[in-house]
Amino acid sequence: MEGVAVVGAGLMGRRLAGVVARAGHPVTLVEVVPEALDAGLADARAMAPESTIDGTSSVVDGVGGVDLVIEAIVEDLAIKQDLFATMGEANPGAILCSNSSVLPITEIAERVADGSRCAGTHFWNPPDLIPIVEVVRGARTSDDTMDRTYGFMAGIGKLPVRVEKDVPGFVGNRLQHALWREAIDLVATGVCDPETVDLVVRNTIGLRLGEMGPIENADYVGLDLTLAIHEAVLPSICREPHASPYLRELVAKGQLGAKTGHGFLTWPDGAREQAAVRLSAHVQQQLADNAH
Ligand SMILES: NC(=O)c1ccc[n+]([C@@H]2O[C@H](COP(=O)([O-])OP(=O)(O)OC[C@H]3O[C@@H](n4cnc5c(N)ncnc54)[C@H](O)[C@@H]3O)[C@@H](O)[C@H]2O)c1
Repeated sequence: MEGVAVVGAGLMGRRLAGVVARAGHPVTLVEVVPEALDAGLADARAMAPESTIDGTSSVVDGVGGVDLVIEAIVEDLAIKQDLFATMGEANPGAILCSNSSVLPITEIAERVADGSRCAGTHFWNPPDLIPIVEVVRGARTSDDTMDRTYGFMAGIGKLPVRVEKDVPGFVGNRLQHALWREAIDLVATGVCDPETVDLVVRNTIGLRLGEMGPIENADYVGLDLTLAIHEAVLPSICREPHASPYLRELVAKGQLGAKTGHGFLTWPDGAREQAAVRLSAHVQQQLADNAH
């Protein structure tokens, strides 16, 4: 595969363009808002100064001659469906991928005549740092599309994984939000305060998870023990099928977290920026440690 188009030059799209271009593919960045296109091109070119990165506001021109498209526009099913219908006609052969975090690729690709060439490619933010790309099979995705998309992602230096069913949240976000649901429930039911939840996570499972995932860990401690623990604990773990009323209440009160100064915690001026720096440094340190 050679030429690649990235559609949408927002937070994700501009960095995706940089990641793909850095690996040596000519990239066309497609964006409908002129200021976003200019800013996106500048960011992508800064990440890959030696590479060819063009920009256009025309979807038809941008995706016309490429081998693979990665869509990273707003998270809105109807808008994505329109875009995929347009792209399907503008380029009858390319692999069409969506970076959607939660929308089913099966529905996004509904109006593409040949849905066998559509797949999900869920990058994590920031896409230049986080290694995993979840390659998601929709109802019509062919084996060939799965294989070529997987191969492409490995070729640009990402760590692709196959998600064989189009389930909401794929693999990573399902696991993450199973934990967040229980974290919020522990606070809502008065078992501990919000600070304690994070203190416990960071100083217990958080220390292990970067090295040993839950499946290996279950084998490691023994499946008989895991079974006994599950018999004792699972009946009392939160299994609400909807968002917590406690979370709804905070949102209704305008307590949206770092951006409003209050969420579960209090965020003084500058705390959000400090958290971003802290998080990025930690991720980079772990990646550097893992590389050795
Ligand atoms: N932000 C994240 O952390 C994150 C992580 C993983 C996946 N995603 C997914 O990636 C996608 C993009 O997210 P984002 O945070 O970069 O959004 P964003 O709002 O920052 O950027 C979206 C861009 O797409 C442009 N756009 C909208 N419609 C368009 C069209 N028809 N043609 C061309 N450009 C169009 C917008 O002008 C905007 O610049 C979403 O599907 C989102 O769910 C986001």
